[in-house]
Amino acid sequence: MKKLTLILFTSLILFGISCSKLNNRSIDKIDIKVDSVLSLMTLDEKIGQLNLVAGNMDQTGPNTNKEYEKDIKDGRVGAIFNVFGVDNIRKLQELAVNNTRLRIPLLFGYDVIHGFKTIFPIPLAEACSWNLESIENSARLAAKEATANGLNWTFDPMVDIARDPRWGRVAEGSGEDTYLGSLIAKAKVKGFQGDNLNDPYTIAACVKHFAAYGAPFGGREYNTVDMSERVFRETYLPPYKAAIDAGVATVMSSFNEIDGVPCTGNKQLLTKILRNDWGFDGFVVSDFTSVKELVNHGYASDEKNSGELALNAGLDMDMMSNVYSNYLKKLLDEGKVTEKQINESVKRVLKLKFKLGLFANPYLRIDDQKEKEITFSKEMMNQALSSAKKSIVLLQNNDYKGKKLLPLSKSIKRIALIGPLANNKVDLLGCWNAQGDASKVITILEGLKANNPNAIIEYAKGADFVGTDESGFNLAKNLALKSDIIICAIGESIEQNGEAASRSDIGLPGVQQKLMEELAKTGKPIIAVVMAGRPLTIEWLSKNIPSILFAGHLGTMAGKAIAEVLYGDYNPSGKLVMTFPRNIGQIPIFYNAKNTGRPFIANDPYTTRYIDSPNEPLYPFGYGLSYTSFTYTDLRLSKSSINHNDTLKITFSIKNIGKFEGEETAQLYIRDLVGSVTRPVKELKGFKKVFLKPEEQKEVSFTITQNDLRFYDANMNFVAEPGKFKVFVGGNSMDLIDSNFELLN
Ligand code: NOJ
Repeated sequence: MKKLTLILFTSLILFGISCSKLNNRSIDKIDIKVDSVLSLMTLDEKIGQLNLVAGNMDQTGPNTNKEYEKDIKDGRVGAIFNVFGVDNIRKLQELAVNNTRLRIPLLFGYDVIHGFKTIFPIPLAEACSWNLESIENSARLAAKEATANGLNWTFDPMVDIARDPRWGRVAEGSGEDTYLGSLIAKAKVKGFQGDNLNDPYTIAACVKHFAAYGAPFGGREYNTVDMSERVFRETYLPPYKAAIDAGVATVMSSFNEIDGVPCTGNKQLLTKILRNDWGFDGFVVSDFTSVKELVNHGYASDEKNSGELALNAGLDMDMMSNVYSNYLKKLLDEGKVTEKQINESVKRVLKLKFKLGLFANPYLRIDDQKEKEITFSKEMMNQALSSAKKSIVLLQNNDYKGKKLLPLSKSIKRIALIGPLANNKVDLLGCWNAQGDASKVITILEGLKANNPNAIIEYAKGADFVGTDESGFNLAKNLALKSDIIICAIGESIEQNGEAASRSDIGLPGVQQKLMEELAKTGKPIIAVVMAGRPLTIEWLSKNIPSILFAGHLGTMAGKAIAEVLYGDYNPSGKLVMTFPRNIGQIPIFYNAKNTGRPFIANDPYTTRYIDSPNEPLYPFGYGLSYTSFTYTDLRLSKSSINHNDTLKITFSIKNIGKFEGEETAQLYIRDLVGSVTRPVKELKGFKKVFLKPEEQKEVSFTITQNDLRFYDANMNFVAEPGKFKVFVGGNSMDLIDSNFELLN
């Protein structure tokens, strides 16, 4: 009977009974197909499907697997990552399809975090655009280019809320805010996966790192996480949930523990919350060797035990620990796991392969022509430029001798362009740049020269990202002295943020700070373009340099985007998604903090404060200037009190009172004044983009309901409590106008 079904099934594949145009009914059909494949599988074949191995074209973790071709042939691999390119992927897919008994195709994963070859801004920078449409489009195009290069699975979006900029991976996420982070999570899943995973341009997404990986003590990579259940549920969990609700195909468990239980072996997380409460029906993959790391955590007694704990917790696929391959059979014999559990995990993996259309056509995303046409196509480059421009934040533009330096006048003749990022291609790509091609990157020097061929733009590196070498200072200073203006391109290198790149000091690295001090002594006007994968402590710059832009690491089109912003062809509109502290001692610092019992009062020492630093950040969450200015007036609420079923309309006016047209991101914050548990002083609840010509005024409105007022109360129920609320609107989390309303019983 088994043989007959096998023949029938194989012929289904061979004669191409295609799963195209999947709808709900065909999802049911997928379940039937999955069951029929499963019924043909041996235990070894099943265990093979739960094994994810790394190829050797990139290294994103501590070890590699040299034997993977043989393992694929022998059916010991369900998915592979760190291999790409149509030729390479075709070869491996052929190995799987032509050599294994059931011809089950492979998944091909990779960290396509902000583009595959055409690189968009790092996520932290792109989030500063607050432009969900553009973020979704970047994800859609990243998927298009990645799939044209043979991939069908990306390990993104990374949605870890992060409040400590020492942690290097803040570069990969959307910053400190849960509301914004959740919307971005959804936009990215939609962008990667589209409406139908069977479409060859879509890629299965993987939300990570579940959960709360973004809160390691001291900002130190891979460190312990611990927090109250309330903070966990309210601040850290919602972005993962948003990705699940958007239909994300897979979830990656994180390296960290939470409340003493490592996430990769955490049943409460992987089964109770993820599957039972949230209804997630995709599969969960571990992070790189995080299954066997349960031993180091002191949670598993040995590798075999780590496999038992992981599978029992609900972890379906093992990335690079080889624990499932080595021990699942034994664990089954010993009765420590059941075949039913293995079957469930295998079914989830097979289901995704069906959804991706791989059973119907294992080569669906393997097409030489598409690889050539789509990689670095105009569509990619246009989005890289458009997104890079939107991501730039103007931190300050103070008067210099009674005038603003930005936008830069095209009649300025001599420009000294100084700094390690000025004529640099590699570092502009940012961390996790997949297969980004540095040769395609437009440097800032190139961007400026192309933008204004009449100016004389000369370059000096001045300083490096590391070390103490000051030998470049003189050249830089001499160049500065003979120029009309200095533009400094400073910040972090690609290695100074991202995974395994936590820093205990987040000032300008190397001798760049000293270089800036030397340049300031020349008395020449200076513009600083700060590029980094995290907020930096740049208080000195804020006091001494009139104009500062924060430009993350912007990817392939960085130099052109920065030139367009500097010259005012594009009016900057980005807003920070992470607070910039003044100094390390203020960390963790984030806008939605609590009031405390002794809120700060100037000159009163017995209130919450430092004796050697202000409490306020250097630049707050939501902050970013424009070449024009906006005023907020006339805040009105439709009612002064609402019932639980009512809606409240919040209306106000924004006016452009400057000389340039520009875009403002109007932000809505709420404060619940009294609760059964204390509430933050402000919480973002909405934002809108408004484009205004000079002198133009527009009315903007938000509508909220009691849903927007909910939180986990004293009994951990998610409710809105009656009482008084404050409403704030404005252009950042600090400069706001406000009003009040009441939620009635
Ligand atoms: C480890 C990282 O934590 C994770 O984000 C990444 O997806 C995997 N390595 C695979 O490269």
